[in-house]
Amino acid sequence: MRFISAVDEMERAIGDLKSSKKTIGFVPTMGCLHEGHMALVRESGRRAGATVVSIFVNPAQFGPKEDLNAYPRDLKRDSALLEKEDVAILFCPGVQEMYPHGYKTYVEVHDLQDRLCGRSRPGHFRGVSTVVLKLFEIIQPDVAFFGQKDAQQVVIIKKMVEDLNLGVAIEALPTVREPDGLALSSRNAYLNPDERKAALVLYQGLKTVQKLFSQGERQADLLLGEIRSAIAREPLARIDYVEIVNPRTLEPIFCIENQALIALAVFIGKTRLIDNVNLSTG
Ligand code: PAJ
Repeated sequence: MRFISAVDEMERAIGDLKSSKKTIGFVPTMGCLHEGHMALVRESGRRAGATVVSIFVNPAQFGPKEDLNAYPRDLKRDSALLEKEDVAILFCPGVQEMYPHGYKTYVEVHDLQDRLCGRSRPGHFRGVSTVVLKLFEIIQPDVAFFGQKDAQQVVIIKKMVEDLNLGVAIEALPTVREPDGLALSSRNAYLNPDERKAALVLYQGLKTVQKLFSQGERQADLLLGEIRSAIAREPLARIDYVEIVNPRTLEPIFCIENQALIALAVFIGKTRLIDNVNLSTG
């Protein structure tokens, strides 16, 4: 695995891969890698001729009161994990490489970026779309791999790719969970043992809704009422949002016909966790 931190060196390396006619699979991350990230890396290894992984804690997607400085970083451990996989290049640009002095250009995917997480994290998805577009420009992937854990991110990136004719195939892979159901996340490291237990309300609530749905319940307000009261019973949990939405437009659904996404963000103590599942009649 080659380690690259400069954009111009990365562009040369990509030029070499392209001239050897290798298809490029790309996995963008912010590091502190776990099995959720590794599932994307392995899928890219299976699907593409060469896999590029990026690690960049993107300041543009953190709000002024968010955890940019506290965000866990462990490049040594991350590189060791990636060395064991079929990865051609690990790209770790510095902030100055990506946003040099005087940087001015941002990408916005209107409407979609303002829903769900966008409401409590204004500017977050503008930062995500911008960095992903920049990384796509530098790496020129044929296919890029994202986790369904961040369902709204996937919807926004797919829309950006469509609207800007980027010609990158976007693959969304299922959420990887701990054995007890908690979705893997770099932010789980912030939880103390009591909070770790309390964090189970997210997936347990989603499972309760899935069960009621499979028993025929189609009224979103009733399903939402169930999950909200289950989470309210956990003293360490505070709901940011729980919504049932159209999986493509992210608009709220009131009566589910065939497909819906139930997505939530919940504070466990000071840590904000997100999760989602699909509700489907098919
Ligand atoms: P990060 O949170 O590091 O996640 C990188 C990728 O791993 C994302 O596509 C995310 O959805 C996926 N992922 C995280 N946890 C997962 C899990 N439990 N199961 C499956 N996939 C999981 O998402 C970002 O970074 C950034 O916003 C980024 C796209 C890199 C732009 O900065």
